[in-house]
Amino acid sequence: MSDPRPIIAANWKMNKTPEEGYQFVRQLAVKAKELTGIRFIVCPSATGLHYIQEAAKDTAIELGGQNMHSAEAGAFTGEISALMLLACGCDWVIVGHSERRHIFHESDADIQAKIPVALEKGLSVILCIGERLEERQSGATESVIRQQLQDDLSGMESYPVERLIIAYEPVWAIGTGVVATPEQAGEAHAQVREILHGLFPALPSNEAKILYGGSVKSSNADELMKTPGIDGFLIGGASLDIDEYVKIAEISQLAIKERP
Ligand code: PGA
Repeated sequence: MSDPRPIIAANWKMNKTPEEGYQFVRQLAVKAKELTGIRFIVCPSATGLHYIQEAAKDTAIELGGQNMHSAEAGAFTGEISALMLLACGCDWVIVGHSERRHIFHESDADIQAKIPVALEKGLSVILCIGERLEERQSGATESVIRQQLQDDLSGMESYPVERLIIAYEPVWAIGTGVVATPEQAGEAHAQVREILHGLFPALPSNEAKILYGGSVKSSNADELMKTPGIDGFLIGGASLDIDEYVKIAEISQLAIKERP
């Protein structure tokens, strides 16, 4: 059985110096000792990882990269490889974040190339998917997430997909302050679960982990975490502040017990 604890993942994006990240993780490590019902994954910028792993050592905090290249090494200026992330203490890597897709024009083919490499090298993957506002408004949400999952995970039938988790992040909710309602998130998560089960019949649908991301804060964490099918959060803005991040974790630890 997979770990039933909610995952509270922090995506710091292009924020925090190595020193700021180190201090954050040290403080979080103290809190994590009390929050044993929560699984913490922190994804600092690549420049901070090597230093921050010292603060995460012998704690319950797992580290992740925010992106990686599909090649093992080579002439790819500015890129980082799976092995580099592993050497900096990462267990995880985020792949296909909407900012990578939309600002840096990563295609589904680019994303598809990264996932098998990450899993082969020993990283677990957080694959981000989600629809844009106009796609939701035109009723295309399910077809968009289906297409992304099919394309990003094609050819993966023989891979250890139990080390892959999905973050459903509607693009219109990321960094906007507009959060999906529990109904919208719950519906999308059920669709993701069903699509994943279709792609990987050997993965029991209740074992698949699906995070919600997009303007998660302490003020909306309770109702989202009480929504069946939401296995945790991928948090951007609200993960930068230690008090707010810990508050979300505390709320989540309580809320999961009250889930219908
Ligand atoms: P946000 O970002 O929490 O700032 O909306 C979420 C994400 O991009 O993963």
